[in-house]
Amino acid sequence: MASSLTNSHASSTYGSNPVKKGEVRFNEMGSEVVEGYTCKPKDYDPNRPIMHYKTLLLLCDDERCGKAGKDDRASHLREILKEMGLNKGQNRIKISRTGCYGACRFRQVCQVTENTQANGNPKNNALWLRHTHNFSDEQWRELFRLLSEDKPLLEALDAEYFIPMKVYN
Ligand code: FES
Repeated sequence: MASSLTNSHASSTYGSNPVKKGEVRFNEMGSEVVEGYTCKPKDYDPNRPIMHYKTLLLLCDDERCGKAGKDDRASHLREILKEMGLNKGQNRIKISRTGCYGACRFRQVCQVTENTQANGNPKNNALWLRHTHNFSDEQWRELFRLLSEDKPLLEALDAEYFIPMKVYN
């Protein structure tokens, strides 16, 4: 809906804005990035722990979901998280792109997972959001705020936000 970014991610294996020749850039972990990549570190440590996150949003970027959004949504949302200070620290919200969930009719699909081994909120774990390509930046900001404050999404948002799920008892 209200996004000004253009679609630049679809054809690149290494992200939307790889490091150019002669450019020096550091990734979010503070490591210098290899030319041609957006985050691959020059000094590779196979045992380096992954960065803490409280919430992980798995945003489908496969064929149908990816085409539903007209921009590089994951990168755009990461910028919003930076503005909000939620890209690092105890309440960090991480965004990763995924392949097809087999739920394309609800595109663009986004699964919310909470790091329940750390400080994630179990009430917001395993929720599925639908038609997120229609979310405005303000809606995303509100969602991020709710998640960072551990407000239960099912109580705070309308039912239309969520993908219904068949439950077996
Ligand atoms: S392409 Fe996203 S669920 Fe199928």
